This record gives sequence, C-alpha cells and structure tokens, in this order.
Amino acid sequence: MPLLRPRRGLLRPGRGRWLHLPAHGGGPGLPAAMRRLLSGRPGVWDLPELPAIGGPLLENGAVAASQHAAAAAYGVDRCWYGVNGATGMLQAAVLAMAQPGQALLMPRNSHRSLIQACALGGITPVLFDLPFLVDRGHVAAVDAVWLERVLAVVEAEGHQVSGAVLVQPTYHGYAVDPGPLVALLHQRQLPVLVDEAHGAHFLPGIDPHLPGSAVHAGADLVVHSLHKSSTGLGQTAVLWHQGGRIPIEALQRSLSWLQTTSPSALLLASCEAALADWQTLDGRRRLKHLLHQARGLHARLRQQQLPLLATTDPLRLIWHTGAAGISGLDADAWLMPRGLVAELPEPGCLTFCLGMTTRPRLAAEMLRQWRALKASQPFEKALPPFTPPPLPLVASPDMACGKAWCAPCQQLPWADAVGAIAAEMVCPYPPGIPLLVPGERLDVSRVNWIEQQRRFWPDQISSRVRIVA
Ligand SMILES: Cc1ncc(COP(=O)(O)O)c(C=O)c1O
Repeated sequence: MPLLRPRRGLLRPGRGRWLHLPAHGGGPGLPAAMRRLLSGRPGVWDLPELPAIGGPLLENGAVAASQHAAAAAYGVDRCWYGVNGATGMLQAAVLAMAQPGQALLMPRNSHRSLIQACALGGITPVLFDLPFLVDRGHVAAVDAVWLERVLAVVEAEGHQVSGAVLVQPTYHGYAVDPGPLVALLHQRQLPVLVDEAHGAHFLPGIDPHLPGSAVHAGADLVVHSLHKSSTGLGQTAVLWHQGGRIPIEALQRSLSWLQTTSPSALLLASCEAALADWQTLDGRRRLKHLLHQARGLHARLRQQQLPLLATTDPLRLIWHTGAAGISGLDADAWLMPRGLVAELPEPGCLTFCLGMTTRPRLAAEMLRQWRALKASQPFEKALPPFTPPPLPLVASPDMACGKAWCAPCQQLPWADAVGAIAAEMVCPYPPGIPLLVPGERLDVSRVNWIEQQRRFWPDQISSRVRIVA
C-alpha cells in the first residue's frame, strides 16, 4: 500500500511545509464545517445522488438549492459545482461556447484543458501571443491595450471567432482589472469565458488592492478552481454563468457529457463550504488577515534581500532564483528534502502558494533556507534573459487539433521535424501551458526555441516529437 502504509506511506501528516496546492494547506485552511464533517464517522459523507441530495445537474435536492444560494449570494444567475477540477468546468464551458467547425479566441497561456476541449469539440483555437517578461520567462497579464491590438489583427486577418477566453490571474498571480477586457470583447458581440482558476479569492471583493473578479466584471462564464484559490478539497470547482449570450441548455448538455454520473457528495459539500465561508463575517475577516499577513511576509523577505518578484496576488510568493544564477527546478530539488515544498518550479523561478492558512515563522525559515541554498551553489551570476517564444500575435493551427492528435503519426528528432505538423501537445506540468499545440506547423525558429526549452525542462520535453505522418 504505497499510499496508505503506516509510517512509510505517502499519505501521512508532516511532510514538510505545505507551500503548494490545494490551498487549504493540508487541513488547517478548511472551513470549520468541512473539518467537522471529516472528523466525524468515516465515510458518512460518501453518499450517492439520493433524491434529497440530488446533483449539480438536477433541478431538485440539496445540491440544486446550494448552487442557487451560492449564485444569489454572489449576484450571478446560475452556478454549477464541479468535482473534476477547473479542468472539467473549462472543458464544458468551451463546448457550450462553440460548435464543431467554429473558432474561439484564446491566449497562449491557456491551460491544456482548453486545448483538449477544442480537440474534443472540433473547435479551432485562435491563439494570441502574450507580453513576455524576459527576466523570469513568464507571460504577463494581458491588458486592454494588448487585447485591442490582438482584436485588430483578428479582424484584419479575417478570423471568425464565436467567443473568447481570458486567463486571469496567471498561475503566478499576475492580474489586471478584467472589466475593460470583458467590455472590449462584448463590444464585438463576443461571449467571454474567464479562466479564473487561480482567483476565486477575488470574488468576495474584500481587498481594494486585488482586482475584481471577472464574475463582477460581467464575464458570461467564469471558472474557479476552489482547491487552488479557495478552501475546497482537491478537484472542487465552480462554473458561474450570467446573461443570455451562452444558452443554459448548451452548458447543461456539455456538463452532462463531461461530469461523472456519481459526483462525490463530499466534494460537493466542500464546494458549498468554500463558497459559503466568504459569506460569513468570520470567513471574510480570515481572508483579509491572510492577505495582510502575506503582504507582510513579502515585505520582510524583500527587506532581507531575498529576490522576490512582484505579483498582484500576495498569496503567491515567487523566488527569483535566476537572479542568483540558480534554476528554480534545482532550487526545488534542493529545498524539498529540507522541508520547503513549493508549487511551481520553473527555469528562472520557484513559486510558493501561501494558500488559505496562516504561516507562523515562515519568513525566518525561508531566509535561512535561501541563504543555505545560495551558499551551496558555486556561481552567483544571474541567469541570462529568457527568449520569448517566436510566435505571431495571432495564429491558428494548420490542421484541426483533434484531427492532428488522432492522425497516423511518426516520431522524429526535433531538428528533423521542421515543416511538419505536430501530432501532440508539448506541455510541461506544472504549469500545464502548452508550448506546442497539435495541428501547428513547426518552423525553424519554433524548433530552435523548443530545443532551448528542452535544456530547461529535460525531464518534461522529449528529444523527439510526434508529427502527422
Ligand atoms: C490557469 C489554470 N486553469 C485551469 C487549471 C486546471 O485546474 P484543476 O487542477 O482544478 O483542474 C489549472 C491547473 O493548473 C490552471 O493553472
């Protein structure tokens, strides 16, 4: 029993500092109602869709009542709880927004689930490039000026899109006010889906320094991953719907395609508890306190010369390891056995998630570990700047994603694949953002860039690529 074996199994408490997701931090951040439920008789919560309970797609029962109450509490028309993460909700949303043969405008930092949904639904992703921060190798948040440029190219090149997707905040917590972005898209009659997986805590609107939620900016569909940015258990998520641009029936249909027929009552209860928590004075105070405490931690670490990158969301803490010549992947491998377990190692940085729980003595421990890590490395020179991906501002795959994925294919070394069409998605995880989408044609500059990425992610990017035969 590799997971449950007493003492040596993986599922045991006390495996270092939990600075990764889920955001409940190994339990302390769970709402009181969930802690009570989980400390009661084992398994009482594992119930099927009995008539009194119902399910996310049923009109009657406790789940329907809970969803209606959550939607009303946050001023939205409808919502559905999800037990397959933001992944399942995003995929259902995409399938409701476009029919086979239609296209959706999407940013290049779309989570892989969005591309998979396009493949499943015969939908063309019209992908737009993003501002790139060369010192760390991240994409920045898209603002209205950037989006206007994108829309101008979409129109000039004649891409017919039936809706648009935005990702806000990014995995690293970079975010802007979504209102102007949603307004720009609505002016062009485009329905908008916002992947706000990492921004559920923008929803209660309790912090003047955080951007508002896309829910309150009028986005037609918004997805929150409740285990990433709220107090839900792993796999919990919610899809919000408002206005008349996306038919409810289309959403219900695609949700029924992609959600299990046996949703876990435990996870559904966790969705309710996570969303209800911020409706209480106590829950709102706690979130406010966590944000305040996180800002204090950032300030203290920066004062002590730990190279932190600025980000909009204080619950993300990004060590700029590259500034000291250290790869974030190496830093992660060094820190994990020493008890600091991060969320997102990348070539230039290491991102920690502070989550929904207090962090006593974390500043002192981070400083100690940072100094020890630096002392263990022979070089101090900063890593060179990262190269932005060589992509046009707007592009769509040469072959339909789903067709390329399923086509007869062959594997070639990257250098031999110039001119060919990719039959796979190349996507280090985390963060789960594709570097290459099935159906895209490889040119020399893209191949060179991916070869360069391979040196950064040797375990995640193969030396060969599957191409359409
Ligand atoms: C931006 C973004 N959207 C969606 C997802 C999928 O979320 P989940 O793990 O809840 O399925 C992720 C996961 O990393 C993500 O980073």
